[in-house]
Amino acid sequence: MGLDYVYAMFQALAENRFLEFNRETYAARGSKSWTAIFMGNRMVYSSEPENMKALSTSHRDAFAVEPIRVGNGAITPFQGRGVSSSDGPKWQYSRDLVKPYFDREGFSNLDRLRTHVDRLISKIPTDGSMVDMQPLFRRWLLDTSTDFLFGRTVNSLDNPDQDWPYRDMVTVMRGLRLRLQLSSFVFLHRDKEFFAACKRIHGFLDAYIEEAYRQLQVEKDTGKSATYENGKPRDDFLWTIARHVPDPLELRTQLTGVWIPSNETTSILMSNTIFALARHPEVVKKLRKEILDYGDKPVTFSGLRSLNYLRYVVNETHRLYPVSLQTVRACVRDTTLPTGGGPSGKDPIFCGKGDIMHCNRFLMHRDPDLWGPDAEEFRPERWETARPMWNFVPFGGGPRICPAHVMVDTECSYAVFRILQNFKAIEARDDEPYTAVMRVGPSNKNGVKVAFIPA
Ligand code: HEM
Repeated sequence: MGLDYVYAMFQALAENRFLEFNRETYAARGSKSWTAIFMGNRMVYSSEPENMKALSTSHRDAFAVEPIRVGNGAITPFQGRGVSSSDGPKWQYSRDLVKPYFDREGFSNLDRLRTHVDRLISKIPTDGSMVDMQPLFRRWLLDTSTDFLFGRTVNSLDNPDQDWPYRDMVTVMRGLRLRLQLSSFVFLHRDKEFFAACKRIHGFLDAYIEEAYRQLQVEKDTGKSATYENGKPRDDFLWTIARHVPDPLELRTQLTGVWIPSNETTSILMSNTIFALARHPEVVKKLRKEILDYGDKPVTFSGLRSLNYLRYVVNETHRLYPVSLQTVRACVRDTTLPTGGGPSGKDPIFCGKGDIMHCNRFLMHRDPDLWGPDAEEFRPERWETARPMWNFVPFGGGPRICPAHVMVDTECSYAVFRILQNFKAIEARDDEPYTAVMRVGPSNKNGVKVAFIPA
């Protein structure tokens, strides 16, 4: 691939056509797996489930992330070697550190989430007027993540001017995407605004870190555990890990290692779900019936999981609008991926040390060979019979699977449940198609302009 490809890619990014560009590049090769030389590196591209499995499950010895995230300096102005950016023993240490928070019963207790969803619903107009849900979901995610990850919410839903960390993170994430894309040419990236935003976010996180260390000291001195303002014991992510990480810089690395992949993720999933529902009134009707049939029982984690159609709707949104486009790995020793090579396209593909692997879940999730001729349609009913394996991996798979996947689906399901308890219909207020604008993942350029009809 020459400069014309580089130009076409950056042009597609600038014109918000990156998803179409992915599709066109694969179509031009006429294959689901292909290789190319790009900016001096050999690249392997695939949208085959078998290759996704191999890439995701054999990372310990053949595939790695550190060389393409930290080793080349792509993310280092913002983040060092945390759970999402290291391999080997450092990754294992980090994963073990963060795991207890995500495994905990905590997020399955919906009390804390309820406050944030109440606040979200209070911002939805009840007179049927138009609202763009995308900025509301963004502020909602900033509020829940500062609450759950750092122990104190910025409450930007009530105080929109407090959403500056979100805006700075947009600058950071956009810069990180570009830097990841530039790879060994990362030195060309000199955007002053990116470096300034990194600095402001570091200061923002350091204030939380100092407070946690201060409270740990009080705990040590008095024997009393720290509590929130409501008297409940602290149990947020930062608090869970702070006592194990006495070095503030390392603690910030572990914090950003989780905060980067949590940015603009659940909010995008929720935006996409409402976007799709607003265009499918028949799905809203069916889903609302399931929700009303649930009755006045308290909404619990297991109660939510018992609602099949709600799960189908969330799955179908993940399938059509994956928040994370690709699994990307550096190959650190010569090996092969199981399929896509040779004249038949069924032989293994050779992967040499130093090659960069890309498995494309956007194309895989929309592949008619895997999902049938209506693969491009939003049809939750397909999940009545779908038995997905490696062809449906919104959260990745294997040892590096997103540790937050249960939490994310619970949060999204709970918010949709509560919205449809309060509103009987969702109407689209524009007829713009889904147009992906890329930061680290894709979000909808046109927002989610809808009206909610009160029950
Ligand atoms: C719609 C929401 C989300 C989606 C679709 C998603 C998807 C993913 C994917 C595809 C990966 C990469 C897996 C791999 O490399 O094989 C990942 C990793 C990760 N995600 Fe998520 N994620 C979401 C939300 C979150 C949230 C809210 C958090 C934290 C609160 C989070 C924390 C992480 C972490 C720490 C990793 C790195 C895991 C590792 O490398 O061991 N994610 N996520």
